[in-house]
Amino acid sequence: MDGVGGLRAIIAGASSGVGRAVALRLVKAGADVLLVGRDADRLKELQYAAGGGDVLATDLSLPDGAERLMAALGDRPVELLVSTVAVAPLAFLATTTRAQWENALTTNVIGTASLLQAVVPRMAPAGLLAVVSSESVGQHRTGLGAYAASKAALEDMMGTWRTEHPGLRFTTVALGGTMPTAFSQGFAPEVAAVAVNDWASRGHIQEQLMHTDDVADVLTGVLVSLIGAPGVGVPRIELASPSAVAGTTAHLRKVEQPVTRT
Ligand SMILES: NC(=O)c1ccc[n+]([C@@H]2O[C@H](COP(=O)([O-])OP(=O)(O)OC[C@H]3O[C@@H](n4cnc5c(N)ncnc54)[C@H](OP(=O)(O)O)[C@@H]3O)[C@@H](O)[C@H]2O)c1
Repeated sequence: MDGVGGLRAIIAGASSGVGRAVALRLVKAGADVLLVGRDADRLKELQYAAGGGDVLATDLSLPDGAERLMAALGDRPVELLVSTVAVAPLAFLATTTRAQWENALTTNVIGTASLLQAVVPRMAPAGLLAVVSSESVGQHRTGLGAYAASKAALEDMMGTWRTEHPGLRFTTVALGGTMPTAFSQGFAPEVAAVAVNDWASRGHIQEQLMHTDDVADVLTGVLVSLIGAPGVGVPRIELASPSAVAGTTAHLRKVEQPVTRT
């Protein structure tokens, strides 16, 4: 990958899933990357697999989480921040606990806000800050009410960061279903069974999810090309599986029947 050598980047959420895959690509391409997440062992395993990067294990949902990041940053300007940090409680709204709401909002909204507060003053001119959101915003997915509400708040906040810091580039990445990651690891099977059926019946699920490696290839490539074009801002990127919505293929086949001419 061209244009990455010496690039100073922070990947928050590097211990797992999409963040790990993006970090792996950047380090291997020669970027100087700070690998941020909670799980120190998985961050060190990534550092070993990538052959570089600095590790910072910190919990961004805690008041001192971003302060620890600030202390680790030093004076050298940061050109790229990517945050995939999120938690996703799966629970119906009638029974979503206060702790689940607090976890979603504290991590996904306040944690990201404090991450941006720590990093923005250290960004290079025209630096790029990309934060991953979700296609579930506005879909009203059963069982993901607290999660989607937190992502909606996150997306709105990104717009205000853009207003308050012209010259920097804030990008929201609306991501669709992607596997394998740890995203759904905490889902209770009995809630997931009901929720997934409901998502399918409302056309919210595609026949094939995207692969984490493909998403990381595209996302890393787009972000690196933006680094090379400081005059171009991309407020929003949507990455979605191109496959058919589950259950619609039969109708589509009918639509695709060739027209017979007389
Ligand atoms: N996978 C999907 O289908 C999908 C769909 C739409 C949107 N998304 C979004 O895509 C992003 C990446 O998701 P993923 O699927 O890659 O999930 P993942 O594998 O669960 O990765 C989430 C990352 O966030 C980190 N994290 C969570 N809480 C943290 C905290 N308090 N402090 C610091 N780090 C924290 C985790 O670190 P530890 O592991 O060290 O705790 C992990 O590295 C998320 O924003 C998610 O909402 C995913």
